[in-house]
Amino acid sequence: MKNLTIVGAQWGDEGKGKIVDHLCGKFDVVLRFQGGHNAGHTIVIKDKKFILSILPSGLIRNKLCVIGSSVVIDPFHFLNEINLLKKKRIIVTKENLRISNNASILLPFHSLIDQIRENKLSKKKIGTTGRGIGPCYEDKIARRGLKIYDLEDINHLKNRLKNLINFHNIFLKSVSKKIISFNEILKLLVSIRKKILPFSEDVSELLNSKKFSNKKFLFEGAQGLMLDVDHGTFPFVTSSNTIPASAAISLGVKPSKIGNILGIVKAYTTRVGEGPFPTELRSGQGLELAKKGNEFGSVTGRPRRCGWFDAVQCKKAINIAGIDSLALTKIDVLDGFKKIKICHKYKLGKKTINHMPNSVKTLNRIKPDYLTLDGWCQNTSSIKNKNLLPKKTKQFIKTLEKLLNVPISIISNGPERNDIINLKKII
Ligand code: IMP
Repeated sequence: MKNLTIVGAQWGDEGKGKIVDHLCGKFDVVLRFQGGHNAGHTIVIKDKKFILSILPSGLIRNKLCVIGSSVVIDPFHFLNEINLLKKKRIIVTKENLRISNNASILLPFHSLIDQIRENKLSKKKIGTTGRGIGPCYEDKIARRGLKIYDLEDINHLKNRLKNLINFHNIFLKSVSKKIISFNEILKLLVSIRKKILPFSEDVSELLNSKKFSNKKFLFEGAQGLMLDVDHGTFPFVTSSNTIPASAAISLGVKPSKIGNILGIVKAYTTRVGEGPFPTELRSGQGLELAKKGNEFGSVTGRPRRCGWFDAVQCKKAINIAGIDSLALTKIDVLDGFKKIKICHKYKLGKKTINHMPNSVKTLNRIKPDYLTLDGWCQNTSSIKNKNLLPKKTKQFIKTLEKLLNVPISIISNGPERNDIINLKKII
């Protein structure tokens, strides 16, 4: 198998963590390329549940994991997550984890600013995770943010931090009683720098070295393609590029290194936070999907909005990401439905359209046009062999493949690590 990049092809929470865990045995290195601790990758192994936000899922199988330059790292959260894993007997050291010394540092005031904007200032919320992701990426693009290597020299760190805090305090003074204390943040950073720096490295140099020339890479995306800052439902998006192309940028490797692209989709659709969602079902079957699928955010605990599978949205995701094949998760959640719908076209006024428009204003006027399939009304969660899947489940999968024009190579039929069926070779 070539290198592989795994991305969520809806609005996040598609079950990427589980699929990375399932496949990473075949790879030497697992690499995280964007986002921060807004992500929530869940892996269930018997009675143990792991929810990783900033650490790559490959750590659970003790793979060498690498965090790229385009990731925003809250160093306090990072160390906490390492401690939580330690309690579950997974030991994280520089032997199994490296972070790019170019990665941006997310500081406590980033989440403060995020929350003030969401809760006090904005009439139209984005519905962020409140973890400071947007403000931290803004600081990076504005060239005032801190990088991991800034922790190396305390005097240099002081200068960079002062500049950053002065900038934010101008805003904070005008909207809040809370301003940022330079001494407080400096003290915090000084207290953890020696714990962070051993993980820090020029990862591009490492991955391009001879030692790594024959190693197999699995790139692990976070969030979903519809939350991509350039191609998603802007402004209701996250602040990073979730598309696979950004993996090469983040890790500093040749674009061809990202290999094949595997998109992860749920057998229905969910979204957390605000923004357009053409197939959303606000009551009845939407609530049933939420209940059966236990659709609550793994990071914020917020209920997820639910709706039927949207093939028009998925086709857009396939295009922007160059998806070669798909993994379809949570098919067992559809077990009890007598009828199952798939949106195959959109209606915009009197027109029928086959693509998902970029403009949110237009998207808000979209009405889904559905194909209705008979449900299989059978328990699929205990099935281990693809040949034993109900005929109507196979029909559902075939219909999706036909509409999307890509193969479905894996299905996941329950939360446990082993609730997974390989259908085809991944391409
Ligand atoms: P932010 O990434 O916290 O700035 O949030 C921006 C948008 O992305 C909000 O709608 C969030 O709910 C959504 N979001 C961020 N991370 C995730 C995730 O891991 N899963 C699903 N939605 C997410």
